[in-house]
Amino acid sequence: MSAPDEALLAAARAAADAAYAPYSRFHVGAAVRAEDGRVFAAANVENASYGLSLCAETNAIMAAAVAGVRRLSAVAVVGYRAATPGEPVLATPCGRCRQVINEFAGPDTPVTVQSAEGSETLAVTLGDLLPHAFGPERL
Ligand code: THU
Repeated sequence: MSAPDEALLAAARAAADAAYAPYSRFHVGAAVRAEDGRVFAAANVENASYGLSLCAETNAIMAAAVAGVRRLSAVAVVGYRAATPGEPVLATPCGRCRQVINEFAGPDTPVTVQSAEGSETLAVTLGDLLPHAFGPERL
């Protein structure tokens, strides 16, 4: 297992503080590294019409995509509950975000999820999170 991408995790951790999450009070920050080295980070943004809320991972990937990125080399996610920020929680990407990541990544792409205070880390690949993925190569 390779060492955790500390710079990417730090970007995700910083982004989590900017979450707009007045309903769930669950802050998530995501950072993605493009193949050219650029890093894009974002947080979850909720909506009074709850179902319209957008996840941190999706927001980060959309920011990367509109900047011209088409391939990601790594993804990092950090989350915490605003009510209990010191309590560890792993904000593993939701199913929709796994599919969004898959559009620009592959089964070997590392996905690192860490609790905000750093005590718990899950280091996996996209293939672990989304086996037998349906991607653009199938169309
Ligand atoms: N959320 C994310 O942004 N990413 C995840 O990986 C899991 C969940 C957000 C969606 C919602 O704003 C809040 O966390 C609670 O589900």
